[in-house]
Amino acid sequence: MVKKKTCIFISGSGTNLKNLILRSRDNTFPINISLIITDNREAYGIKYAKKYKIPFLFINTKQRNFENDILFNLKKYEISFICLAGYMKIISNSLIQKYKNKIINIHPSLLPKFKGLNTYSRMLRNKEVKAGCTVHYVDKKLDNGNSILKKMFFINEKDNEKTLKQRTQKLEYQAYPEAIIKIFKNN
Ligand code: GRF
Repeated sequence: MVKKKTCIFISGSGTNLKNLILRSRDNTFPINISLIITDNREAYGIKYAKKYKIPFLFINTKQRNFENDILFNLKKYEISFICLAGYMKIISNSLIQKYKNKIINIHPSLLPKFKGLNTYSRMLRNKEVKAGCTVHYVDKKLDNGNSILKKMFFINEKDNEKTLKQRTQKLEYQAYPEAIIKIFKNN
């Protein structure tokens, strides 16, 4: 199997990145992580890039030509697939056009509910019964593209923001690899 050369975009702790790196070591897993891009020089997840010796780049999105910089490097590393994993910036239209249906994201809610930030506090305030995560294609609108896979759990009375995050992320570590396998199943 020829693995897809993949770039992971991160801004923060990078636990999904770590999980995908470990999964991608398996010969049968469809992607190989060839590049990591971050907009945050301090992102904790950079630690995993170093540990697992994967090329990583800090691209400052405050710079005027940052999009060209991203595109240039995606080309340089022959990237054909992109996973957003806690990347806190909006992906530009030109990148979405160039990588049509080749960019996916994981979001900590059952979309279309709770797009955007602060999902856990909003769910609790809303007295939601269910929580979970969604892996979806990235399109022009925030947290909007077609869903690939969702995983859910029932919220209980004792849950708070911390436990919701823990429970959600536990499911994310299953959902993201499963969604990637699903995408490339017939390729
Ligand atoms: C995840 O919960 C993901 O759903 C959201 O950002 C978080 C990133 O966590 N988009 P991590 O950086 O992978 O630990």
